[in-house]
Amino acid sequence: MESYTVRPATGVKGEISVPGDKSISHRSIMFGSLARGTTTVRGFLRGEDNMATLNAFRSMGVEIADDGEILTIVGRGLHGLREPGDVIDCGNSGTSIRLLTGLLSGQRFFSVLTGDQYLRKRPMKRVVGPLGEMGAVIHGRDGGEKAPLAIVGGALSGINYRSPVASAQVKSAILLAGLYADGVTTVTEPHRSRDHSERMLAHFGADIRVTDTGAGIAGGREMQGQEIVVPGDISSAAFFLVAGLIVPGSEILIKGVGVNPTRTGIIDILIAMGGDIRLQNQRTLSGEPVADLLVRSSSLKGITIGGDLVPRAIDEFPVVAVAAALAEGVTTISDARELRVKETDRIAATAANLRAAGVSVTETDDGMIVTGRGVLDSCAVDSRGDHRIAMAMLVGGLAAAGPITVSDTGCIATSFPRFLPLLEEVARR
Ligand code: S3P
Repeated sequence: MESYTVRPATGVKGEISVPGDKSISHRSIMFGSLARGTTTVRGFLRGEDNMATLNAFRSMGVEIADDGEILTIVGRGLHGLREPGDVIDCGNSGTSIRLLTGLLSGQRFFSVLTGDQYLRKRPMKRVVGPLGEMGAVIHGRDGGEKAPLAIVGGALSGINYRSPVASAQVKSAILLAGLYADGVTTVTEPHRSRDHSERMLAHFGADIRVTDTGAGIAGGREMQGQEIVVPGDISSAAFFLVAGLIVPGSEILIKGVGVNPTRTGIIDILIAMGGDIRLQNQRTLSGEPVADLLVRSSSLKGITIGGDLVPRAIDEFPVVAVAAALAEGVTTISDARELRVKETDRIAATAANLRAAGVSVTETDDGMIVTGRGVLDSCAVDSRGDHRIAMAMLVGGLAAAGPITVSDTGCIATSFPRFLPLLEEVARR
């Protein structure tokens, strides 16, 4: 199993860009495949999660060419997918399996979705339940809660679904099924989750309407291929934002980062902690706001995080906790129960790893309380197969008293294949 040791840095410096947004990359393949005509995608993230989605569509007869820079997808229209000849393996990717479950519910063929040992433990009823109400027939282990999932697609009816969780994966799965349903399908959620599906569906010409609390889609309207430019992933930039803040003497410019307001919770959190982060050169690409982020080392202080801010920063809590450990005072995170069902239980994993680095962390049901300590001890920790747990502790290692070793770092390739060389490139010693 791969492991990596990071040594403390005296500064983090440079001008970098981060790989394309994972959520937008998944959706570009999905909507490009279902549209009529050709879709081109620049800045596609070639991480393992997105390759799982790409391979799934190839296995359903979609022609997708990759010249190393641009992906070209020959869309087959809403009803042009073919029954796959084998089980579709979504690997570690929750977005692939949940969005595909919605999309496959509307196909007139049989399909089976599975994933790796981590994905097969994650909850699927949150999509299987509402899709069943629309008329889909889906079987899975544990009464439909766990993959593998077997889907007999067919005629669907629109529903008005009130999701109990703020989840873009749930919302998007239902909207994708809604493309095939009779009438209008609406989804509302307790707090707004990322809206990349809504933006991209509108961009492709789907009949979608967005409201304050959710979205509605009318079935049956064909979409048209588009030219998509994928912005840098703010969830990948987050590791370099925190590195730039916690290592004294740092200044780093991260160019071309997506700053969709449903994703910028990390910027709001770090600025509230006292971080010096500036947005420059703001622009719009393929319906998504983009900016360059300039970050300088700052003295951070503890804050309280909960409510609407949580879904806007849902993937960033492992690295927020590292920032909190290096801040002065206490940081309290609540309303973040969803972290327990991510790639791993991110509350338990983050707490265990920070404790190994000498930090006092109290786990709560829906979050954690981190007492800032200004430094991390040298330690050896495990990623538990979760890319963001691995990257968060490696960033912490730049501001530690001695080396930090993380085991099982192969998982970083799911979202950020060149993370380690980029971290070493910017770290000064
Ligand atoms: C994602 C949505 C989020 C996020 C995941 C990607 C997406 O999950 O954690 O990394 O692309 O829709 P939930 O919507 O389940 O919170």
